[in-house]
Amino acid sequence: MAIPERFIEELSARCDLVDVVGDYVPLTKKGKDYWGLCPFHNEKTPSFSVSPDKRLFCCFGCGKKGVGAIHFIMEKEGLSFPDAVRFLARRAGMEVPETGEDPNYRRRRERLLELNKQAARYFHNQLESPAGADGRAYLYEKRKLSHGIITRFGLGVAPDGWDNLITAMAAKGYEKRDLLDAGLAVKNQNGRIYDRFRNRVIFPIINIRGEVIGFGGRVLDASTPKYLNSPDTPVYNKSRNLFALNIAKKSKQGRIILTEGYMDTISLHQAGFDCAVASLGTALTPDHAQLIARYAQEAVIAYDGDGAGVAAAQRAIPILEKTGMKVKVLRVTGAKDPDEYIKTYGAEAFAKLIDQSDNHIEYRLGQIQAKYNLEDNAQKVEFLRECAALVAGLRSPLERDVYGTRCAQLCGVTAEAMAQEVANERRRRQKAEEKRQMRRDLNPAAELQPKERDLRYENLKSARAEEGVLRLLMLDEGLFAHLGELKAEDFSSPFLGQVFGLFCQRHREGKPVEPELLAGQLAPEQVVRLAEILKSPEALSHGEAAMADYIEIIETERAKRREDIDPLLAAREKYLEKKSYGGRSNE
Ligand code: CTP
Ligand code: MN
Repeated sequence: MAIPERFIEELSARCDLVDVVGDYVPLTKKGKDYWGLCPFHNEKTPSFSVSPDKRLFCCFGCGKKGVGAIHFIMEKEGLSFPDAVRFLARRAGMEVPETGEDPNYRRRRERLLELNKQAARYFHNQLESPAGADGRAYLYEKRKLSHGIITRFGLGVAPDGWDNLITAMAAKGYEKRDLLDAGLAVKNQNGRIYDRFRNRVIFPIINIRGEVIGFGGRVLDASTPKYLNSPDTPVYNKSRNLFALNIAKKSKQGRIILTEGYMDTISLHQAGFDCAVASLGTALTPDHAQLIARYAQEAVIAYDGDGAGVAAAQRAIPILEKTGMKVKVLRVTGAKDPDEYIKTYGAEAFAKLIDQSDNHIEYRLGQIQAKYNLEDNAQKVEFLRECAALVAGLRSPLERDVYGTRCAQLCGVTAEAMAQEVANERRRRQKAEEKRQMRRDLNPAAELQPKERDLRYENLKSARAEEGVLRLLMLDEGLFAHLGELKAEDFSSPFLGQVFGLFCQRHREGKPVEPELLAGQLAPEQVVRLAEILKSPEALSHGEAAMADYIEIIETERAKRREDIDPLLAAREKYLEKKSYGGRSNE
C-alpha cells in the first residue's frame, strides 16, 4: 500500500541522520562531520562518516554510502523503501497513514492553496477600500512603508467585523469548513464560526514555490496579542518555512539576513537588503537552516538587541554552523530591532553593522575554551592546538594576529609561539591543497566524473549542463516554467535524463523534487549523486538565464550527436531549416 508523500517528507525531516546512525554506532564530531566505526563492515579504526548538512553517510573502507535516514535504514536493516519508512516512523513515534495515497489529499491541498491565494488578494484589495482606511494609515504613515514594498509583499488589511472574509470567500464558492481547514476562521465553544483575522494588517506567508501558505496579522494599536498567525495546516508548517525567502532566494547579495520579525524583514527589504528573511514567531530549526544553506553561503543573524534576542542568536548559531554556512552575528545597538535601527540611522549604517559583525570567531573561541581546563598543562596544549586550527582558517592576517595573540594570552604563552603553531597549520593545509590541485591538473576529467562506473558520463559538457538543469529545478521550482521544449531524450546521460523525467512527472503531480524523496524510485548511488549535484554552487539570481544557457548546450550537443549518427540526414535537416528561415525573411 502506498504511503502518502507528505508523510514521507515529514518523516525524513524529523529523523536526524546522525541520531539514527547513532542507534547503531557511536559517532564523534570532527569538524562539520561525524565519524565512527562502519556499521556495514568490521573494522577497528573509524572510516565511516556522516555529514549532517548533506544528509550523507559514507564509508571510506567498504564504500557503502547513501542519503538520508530512510536510505540508511534500507541498507542497514535490509528493508524495502516503504518498510524502512514504517520502521523509522515507529522509532519517531509517528503513525503511518496506511490508507494508501489518499486521492482526495492532493485536491484538498490545492483547494486550500487556492483559497489562501484568494484570501490574500481580498486582504490586499481591502487596502484600497474605505474599510481599509486604518490599515492603510498604519502601513504607510505609522510604519513608513512605500507603495512598492506593500505590493511586493502583498500586504493587506482584514477590516473590523466577524465575517468579512467568510462572506467574501463564500461568493467564490468556499465554505466555512474550507476556511477552518485553512486556519482563516475559528470556531468558538458555542460552535459559532468567525474570521480569525479581524481589524489587523495582514502579512501573507509565501513559500519558495510562490504559494500563499499562511498569514500573520498585526494589531493596529497596542492591544494584544500583537501578532496572530495561521496555525499549522495541511499546507503550512512554521518550522519549515521562512518569511520572505521567496524573495530573498533570488537576491544577489550572497548572504541571507535572518531577523526575528515580519516588520524587520520588510524594513530591510525597503532599505535595499533584499536578502532578509524571518522565522515565523518560532525559534530557528535545523530545517530552517537547511533551507537557508541552499541559497546562500553566509548567514547574518540580525535579531533584536534585547536579552531574548541575544539568547535566541546563541541558539541559532550552532544550528546554522552545522550546515557549513559562514555565520555572522550582528549587534544592534542604540535601537531595539533592525527595523528601528534603519529608521533611526539609515541603510548605510546598517550595512556597516553587517561589515563589523564578525564576532562569530569570538563565539567559536569561547566554545573551544569551554571544553578545556586551562589550569591543566596538557589541556592547555590541546586548547592551543584546536585554537590554532581555527585561527589558521581565518583569511585576514590581521585577524589571525589578533585572535592568535588573544589565545596565547589566555594560556600565558608568547604570541610568537602561537603564531608559529598557526603558521605550521597553514603550511600543512597548503601542502594538502597543492596535492589536491596536482591531482586535478593531472586528470581534469576524472574530477568531474561521478565515482560510480554505471553513472559515467559520455559527454561531459552536456552532462554538466544537464546537472545544471536538475540543480536549478531542485532549487527553484518556478523554473519548470522555463524548460521550453526540453525532453528527457535530449539528455546525453541516461541517468540524468531519467531523473529529469521523474522530476517533470512529480512537478505535474504537484510533488516537491528532493533527492531524498526519490529514494523509492532510484538506486542508492543515484540518490547520492543527485544530492551531490544539488550541493554544487548555483547562482539563483540569474536562474532563468542560467537555465537558458544549459538548455542551449544540451540541444547543441544533442544536434552534434545526431550528426555523428547520420551526417546525411543532419545535413538535409540543416538545409531545410536554412531554407525555411530564408523563405520567411523574404516575405
Ligand atoms: N510574534 C508572534 N506573536 C506575538 C509576538 C510576536 O507571533 N504575539 C512573532 C512575529 O512573527 C513577530 C516576531 O515574533 O514578527 C517578532 O516579534 P516582535 O519583535 O515583537 O515583532 P516585530 O515584527 O518587530 O513587530 P513590530 O515592529 O510591529 O512591533
Ligand atoms: Mn519591531
